[in-house]
Formats: sequence, structure tokens, C-alpha cells
Amino acid sequence: MILIIDFGSQFNQLIARRVRENNVFCEIKAPVISIEKIKELNPEGIILSGGPASIYEKNSPKITKEIFSLKIPILGICYGLQFMVNSLGGSVAKSRKREYGFAKLRINRATGLFKNADTNTSCWMSHGDSIDILPNGFVISASTNNTKIAATCNSLEKYYGVQFHPEVEHTDQGKLMLKNFILNICKCKPSWTMKSFAKDSINQIKKQAGEKKVILGLSGGVDSSVTALLIHKAIGENLTCIFVDNGLLRKDEAKKLKLTLNKNLDVNIRFVSAKTKFLKALKKITNPEKKRKIIGNLFIEVFEAEAAKIKGAEYLAQGTLYPDIIESRSAFGGPTAVIKSHHNVGGLPKKMKLKLIEPLKHLFKDEVRHLGKELGLTDELVWRQPFPGPGLAIRIIGEVTAPRLSILKEVDAVLLDEIRKSGYYNKLWQSFAVLLPLKSVGIMGDGRTYENIAAIRAVTSKDAMTADWARLPHELLGNISNRIINEVRGVNRIVYDISSKPPSTIEWE
Ligand code: XMP
Repeated sequence: MILIIDFGSQFNQLIARRVRENNVFCEIKAPVISIEKIKELNPEGIILSGGPASIYEKNSPKITKEIFSLKIPILGICYGLQFMVNSLGGSVAKSRKREYGFAKLRINRATGLFKNADTNTSCWMSHGDSIDILPNGFVISASTNNTKIAATCNSLEKYYGVQFHPEVEHTDQGKLMLKNFILNICKCKPSWTMKSFAKDSINQIKKQAGEKKVILGLSGGVDSSVTALLIHKAIGENLTCIFVDNGLLRKDEAKKLKLTLNKNLDVNIRFVSAKTKFLKALKKITNPEKKRKIIGNLFIEVFEAEAAKIKGAEYLAQGTLYPDIIESRSAFGGPTAVIKSHHNVGGLPKKMKLKLIEPLKHLFKDEVRHLGKELGLTDELVWRQPFPGPGLAIRIIGEVTAPRLSILKEVDAVLLDEIRKSGYYNKLWQSFAVLLPLKSVGIMGDGRTYENIAAIRAVTSKDAMTADWARLPHELLGNISNRIINEVRGVNRIVYDISSKPPSTIEWE
């Protein structure tokens, strides 16, 4: 495996993706990791990521210098390079100006990190400080007009450093450079595939759960479905899944999911209908955070009551993904601001005194999709757009009532039908409708109307951390608007949301 040390770069997940694209496993860890822990992980190489700090700042992140006595290859990127140079006796020049954006890169020799690379290429820079004096044994291996030491290496020790960011698409041959590091320099074997992951994971679950019973909350999304499949392959009948229908799903979704899940997963599933409970609890609630809390707590209550019927359960399985657990997010120890309290079953294990099984906790979303395919999940489940736990409640701005829920379900169903027919469903991260707490005047036939406004939201994204509004063809938007206004009673105006994330979020509440 490759160990990635997170010095706070916004690109560290991208580095991890690049490593895994080479079929090599990697983990991202905070710089506070101990040398003992590193030895336990037994990496074949270490990548020191970039970061916003200057090496001269008092609290700049640092990892133990003992990594330089491990005798394994190390690649420093941007701040990671500066840390390496500083640690090994070179010096870094402080700068108050940042170099940002594309730069022409001249490579001295196409060897090492640059094996098979074109020697005249382009790279993407984002740095303030730069290398002034190299430590003993290091040579310059590439330069740009502004940065004489754009890349350096000590090939004897197998230490490499780049001032630019090879992990971003804008660095033309960045993928090749990382591949050279991982496969040629570290000599990792490209054997980490979803097939091997599935095999290992099933064995591990078998070992962990033994003969004990496991409970899993199914949401109909790809993460919980894949978790169910893996665990079922490991322990069969000892897995029981619970699907809570909170009434806040899309039109006919609960019914369709029941069919799809039964068809796809030959697993024991208990369906619990709790629609009225949820609607009652949401009465008169308009505050988005209150809605989320109420739904989250009620979910736990309903789930717990059903789970209590399964005697002797000792484990709770969850489809937690890697981005949720990367501990290095707090590389600087600062708390991340709570933007929205995401609804998940986080409160469950503690309350129910169950032990956790989280077989996907080292995977990214696209890897989970590949794993799903590997395990034989149908495209319908593998490529389902994400759907938030609190469901349509956070897409009805203002109070959630049965009539408003029913209007939104109809609007959303038409939207989805058009999106699917146009072939856009799989190209979008999400597409959905939002019901606004506003009415506007319209004219239908010869009469005046005073009806609801619905907003359409369609976004592209890789991981939901950032998102852009989708440039849907005007013709498609026109069809969607026409059909909704004609087919759904109670709506006379459609608007399209053209905000990206950040500064907006994907969901409206
Ligand atoms: P935001 O609105 O924060 O959403 O930009 C990012 C992604 O997360 C989904 N989302 C949720 N998913 N429980 C979930 O499982 C939630 O409470 C929740 N809230 C938002 C949202 O649909 C988008 O994909």
C-alpha cells in the first residue's frame, strides 16, 4: 500500500484516487501518525501532500522525521516537498506571493518520476514558498520560468519532490508521473481490484461476525445495497435488513424499491411502513435543522423498535464511505463548521449497544459502484442518483403537509421521467424538484390562477463536495416546465436553479 500524509491540501482525496486508479491500495493519514503505526501499515511508499501552510509557520503540520529512515521511496508534493527539503538539511525561500495556475515545465531527463514523459510539458502550480537550497544528494530534475526547482530527486535514496500538483488534471502528464512513482519506483503490484477487495472483505466479515446476527438499514441507495450483498455473501441468513418507509420518498419509490431490492438481493428484508408517524412529527415544523433532527431521531426510534424483534443481534452494518472517515480532515485540529446535520444512523450503534461492521469504509463512491457491478447488482441500483435521508421533507420549503408532499411527488416524477428519457439521468449527480413556499399569478385557459412555484435542481459533481448546475438543453427544460404545469394541479410556475456549490449547497435545506 501507499501511505498518503495529509498536510491539508484540498487535493489529497484526488491523490488517493490516482493511486487507486493504478490498482494499488492507499490510505490518507494525518501527520500526527506515529512511526510505529506507519511500520504497522508497512507501506511500499509515502506521498507527502501539499498544504496551505508555510513550513516556517509555528503550527505548520509536520510528520516525524523518522520516515526518512524507513528506506522506502517518498514523494513530496508542494508543501510536502518543502517539508522534505527542510527536514533533510536544505532550505525553503519564504515568499509572500503565490504562483498559481499553468506553467510550462521543462524536464531535464525522462527518467525516474518522468520516465516516458515528454520533456516539454505543462504543469499546474499553487504555491507560495519555494525551494532555495537542495539537501545533499538532490539534483534539479525539472524547471519552469518562475520556479527553477520545480522538481527534484535523490534517486539513490528514492526521494522525489515536485513543486507543482501532479494529481490534478491540469498537469498534463501528472497521471504518468504518479504511475511511475507507484509502480516503478515503489514497485507496488497493481493487484488491488474490486474483485480482490470483495474476496478479502467477505473473508474479513466472516471472521468478524462469525455465527452472530447482523442488522443493516437499507435505504435503496447503492451504498447500503452493496453492503447488504457483501455481508450476505459472508454470513447468509444471519443478516437481516430493515427498510423504513418514512413516506418521504419519491413517487412510488417505496413500492419500486421493494421489488428491486427483493429481485437484486436475495436477502432477508423487513419493510416497515411509518408514513403517518413521520408526517405527524413534522406538523408545523418549518426550520430545516429541526426537520432534519426530527426525521433522524424518529428513524432511529422506528429502526430500533424493529431491530428489537430480531433476537440476538450483535452487529450493526453501515455503508459508511471513505470520505466520511478520513481522520486527517482535522489535520489542523480545527472543527469543521456544521452546515447541515446529515441524517444517518450514526446514533444507532451506541444506543443499541451494537458493534459496527463497515465494509465500505475505505472506498470512494465510484469504487462502491464498481464493487456493486462486480457483485452482480443491476445498473438500476448501481447508478441510482443519491437521495438524502430526510427525503422530500428537505425539498418542501416550509411545512411538510400531505397535500404539499403529494404535489412535490408529482412534479418530481414528471421531471425524472423527462430526465431519464433524455438520457441525462446517468450524466447528472442529482436531478430533483423543490416546492417553494410561494405562490404566483398565472393564467390558464381564460382564468387567473394563483398557485405554487416549483424549482428544478440538476447538478453535476464527482463527490458532492463541490457541484455545478447542469447546463441542460433549453429544449429539455422547456419540456419539463410544460409538462409539469400541464400535468400537475397546483403548480403554475417553474424556475431553474443556476447556483453552484459552493456557495450554495445541493439541497435547499
Ligand atoms: P448538500 O445539500 O450538503 O448535499 O450540498 C450534499 C449531498 O448529500 C446529500 N444529502 C444527504 N444525504 N443524508 C444523506 O444521506 C442527509 O441528511 C443528506 N443531506 C444531503 C445531498 O442529496 C447531496 O447529494
